[in-house]
Amino acid sequence: MVLSDKSGQPEYDRKAELTAFDETKTGVKGLVDSGVTEVPRIFRIPSPENFNSQQTQLTLPTIDLGGINEDPIRRKEVIGQVKDALESWGFFQMVNHGIPVSVLDEMIKGVMDFHEQDTEVKKQWYTRDFSGKTRWLYNSNFDLYGAPVTNWRDSFYCTMVPDPPQPHELPPTCREILLDYSNQVMKLGVCLFELMSEALGLDPNHLLDMGCADGLAVLGHYYPSCPQPELTIGTPNHTDNDFITILLQDHIGGLKIFYQNQWTDVPPIPGALVMNAGDYLQLITNDKFVSSQHKVVANKVGPRVSVASFFTTGLIQTSKVYEPIAELLSKDNPVKYRGITIKEYADYYREKGLDGTSALLHFTI
Ligand code: OGA
Ligand code: NI
Repeated sequence: MVLSDKSGQPEYDRKAELTAFDETKTGVKGLVDSGVTEVPRIFRIPSPENFNSQQTQLTLPTIDLGGINEDPIRRKEVIGQVKDALESWGFFQMVNHGIPVSVLDEMIKGVMDFHEQDTEVKKQWYTRDFSGKTRWLYNSNFDLYGAPVTNWRDSFYCTMVPDPPQPHELPPTCREILLDYSNQVMKLGVCLFELMSEALGLDPNHLLDMGCADGLAVLGHYYPSCPQPELTIGTPNHTDNDFITILLQDHIGGLKIFYQNQWTDVPPIPGALVMNAGDYLQLITNDKFVSSQHKVVANKVGPRVSVASFFTTGLIQTSKVYEPIAELLSKDNPVKYRGITIKEYADYYREKGLDGTSALLHFTI
């Protein structure tokens, strides 16, 4: 069957080309290794990325988390900064977050080592089984068959909490560091949920008691160098389907946030982590904290590696229903979303794929 291509190219059998790509089990890295000099059409965006029009004076805030557990005045200050950042940008960078640089560096290396290991060994980890049966998933483009454009990116997705994988379920290339890193990210996440609860005027344990830190999935992204970066995209505009994301990026850059009608770079800062609010946080705060659109451009320089830690129970079936927090609602601020289960939202998000629209719209009242 000939399918029309949503990116506006002449009609071609996109499905067949996607299947052929999927069956290589070697992702975008496999294409680059094979020496492609042109971006194949499944990866082409409708209009080229204009890198030059995106220069801007705006600077994403950086919050120093040092001293918040010892000094109540510092803590209050930081709570104010977190509130301001999440109400406007939905994003901030963090320094003095408590995770040693050596752990960050090793985690980046673990992701690099996984993607750059022997191809035949790596292929054995390739799967598109989103049923929740497996805690480890490696593939290229989780939304390959649904999304309008295939992305210049390979990723793994690993559910670390509530039920940590057994060591044999994890690839040896990043097994130990994944367990260590995710333990430390969980501690940082707990601290952030306490700060955010206070920033919302709630009891410090409110978000934790709701279960916002009950699940953690770690994604290891690999963006190979691209021969024609303006013709494709590393990750298209999207918002995250989680409560919060803690992102570790290497030194290459390419992450951009849509803020005040323009795309702003998130420059790599050595030793820093980026944090952003996801759709579930926007939903339960009834739009007080915003889940902002962001994207990653493709780059001639590469590979770029990033590690996105998603606070969500994701693929795990739980019956918990999340809805806007009653204490935040008033006559002037009526409820905007219906209750959801995480599984329901995650399934809808994956089916829809990263098509540039927000999945939240589907759940408004
Ligand atoms: C994500 C994401 C950004 C990056 O995983 O949702 O936006 O820099 N990642 O890879
Ligand atoms: Ni994201």
